[in-house]
Amino acid sequence: MCGIVGYIGTKPVKEILIDGLRELEYRGYDSAGIVVLQNHQFSLFKAVGKLINLEEKASLFESTGFSIGIGHTRWATHGKPTELNAHPHVGAVSYVVHNGIIENYQELKNSLTHEGVQFVSQTDTEVIVHLFEHHLSNVGTPFEAFKATLAQLEGAYALLLVTASEDKTIFFAKNGSPMIVGRRGEDETFFGSSDAALIGKAQEVIYLEDGQYGYATAETITLFDPHHHALQSRFTPLSVTKLSAQKEGYRFFMEKEIYEQSTVLADTLMGRLREDEIYFEELPSDLFEGICEIKLCACGTSYHAAMVATYLLERHAKIRTSVEIASEFRYREPLLTPDTLFVVISQSGETADTLETLKMAKKRGLKTLVICNVDNSSMVRLADASILTRAGIEKGVASTKAFATQVSVLWMLSLHLAGLRQTLEASEIGRQISVLRTLPSVVKVENSTHEQLRRLSKRYLHGHGFFFIGRDVFFPLALEGALKLKEISYLHAEGYPSGEMKHGPIALADPELFTIALLPEHKLYDKTKSNVEELSARDSTICSLSPLDFDKADDHIRTHSHSDYMAEFFEMMVILQLFSMEIAIRLGNDVDMPRNLAKSVTVE
Ligand code: G6P
Repeated sequence: MCGIVGYIGTKPVKEILIDGLRELEYRGYDSAGIVVLQNHQFSLFKAVGKLINLEEKASLFESTGFSIGIGHTRWATHGKPTELNAHPHVGAVSYVVHNGIIENYQELKNSLTHEGVQFVSQTDTEVIVHLFEHHLSNVGTPFEAFKATLAQLEGAYALLLVTASEDKTIFFAKNGSPMIVGRRGEDETFFGSSDAALIGKAQEVIYLEDGQYGYATAETITLFDPHHHALQSRFTPLSVTKLSAQKEGYRFFMEKEIYEQSTVLADTLMGRLREDEIYFEELPSDLFEGICEIKLCACGTSYHAAMVATYLLERHAKIRTSVEIASEFRYREPLLTPDTLFVVISQSGETADTLETLKMAKKRGLKTLVICNVDNSSMVRLADASILTRAGIEKGVASTKAFATQVSVLWMLSLHLAGLRQTLEASEIGRQISVLRTLPSVVKVENSTHEQLRRLSKRYLHGHGFFFIGRDVFFPLALEGALKLKEISYLHAEGYPSGEMKHGPIALADPELFTIALLPEHKLYDKTKSNVEELSARDSTICSLSPLDFDKADDHIRTHSHSDYMAEFFEMMVILQLFSMEIAIRLGNDVDMPRNLAKSVTVE
């Protein structure tokens, strides 16, 4: 997602900032900007799209001698990817770059607007710079104004701020989003939201902790803890390689992306949850007018997310919903009527089969919606409406965080539609929204769980196959669990509805058949349990996932007790992802680039 860089020193500042931003490109972004302060003059450049556009805009700018600068790459979450919404955000005499979410921005914006402040962007970030200037006009020094500003911010942030009266200083703060301060020799200071931006530049760094803040010049870094006590700056050498920096210490991108799900889900939900309704700013108000049916189409993991949606849309919005694999749909001469909303789901927005179904539906005059992770992708450009999943760039070929964000968007969509069609009580929508709010913590990986899965994985390396089984939405989750395992371990795995095992597959049951049983407490527990017992009676090796004890299992992964089955869904999803990954690692496979697979399949 977004990236931050900063520099104080005498080297060419523009090049250092843009070079640092380039190292953060892998996180994904759709606009970028820098501001440089030199000889009491600010030079600001912003551009939509890739860094090359920013470089072109700033091509005539050169710095000589001492200067300070801050830069940012933005992945749009709050407002469209436009130049006005790109960082740095501008006040009368100050500039700010920010990663994270200012949760109380609306409240702050209202009170600043009341005082006559004019906002030019749709972002939450802009309040920071205006709030700072509001305090600056009342208190003595920029640093006091900065402290007063931080005291009013709620939410997550990593931010850098520069202001005209202190032209040798960058003010910084970190709370919830990463920020690193680095130095080289005695007279250069760097900032970055990740190691990657600092490699080859800073020699030693401080990884800021939550609540820390301060200010830096070329020679000194003044650091405070959350209780405003001065801290000793403790530097560590920066010795990582570029690739390991991008992986942020994780062994594989897939692992990083599994761990990242907590933060990306917070982004997915941001601005879309109200007390008892779901708000999608991006949806045209008439999208559902005249619609009696929904048809979903997708491939691979996105297809599994679409399958989950069929349960949720029919259950919540009482609308007939069906799902199809895109490559099948294309050639089976489907009946399409204009009262059907055609929804495609795609991480990349480029998958050829899915894109073709979208073109077919458009040609037949259907209204179309895409749920996608990549703004400006072919599908987003083509569909009548789009909802972005905000997962950030996904590098691992085996999709993880993209799936999590797709399911959460589809769940929100089902509640949005339930509200419009009045098929659920507002109180029930409100209850589910409160469950949605817990997702970032539900998917947080606990060390003990990961360690258990790592140990357990050694018992599941051989055998003649895996069955992942579940009912209701846990059936598509079982399919997704089996797909993850197949993709990266090359072991044979199938997903099955647990009630269907007795109609054939149970013939395979023996100790070398591994059954991964999804036993949520709040969805058809007894029914699923009976199906698992049938397999256990035939000596299949069972690994169960449940918050409840299950004595017929050979291995039991105890999940937390949640109030709602969808929270159980998300916790089990993470466990299945880690389980596959640990098996693949033990088998010595390339987890991020499994054989024969591609991340984006743009051929039929
Ligand atoms: C490929 C990838 C899968 C992905 C599928 C659909 O097969 O390997 O991980 O789920 O394409 O991709 P999409 O970008 O349309 O979600």
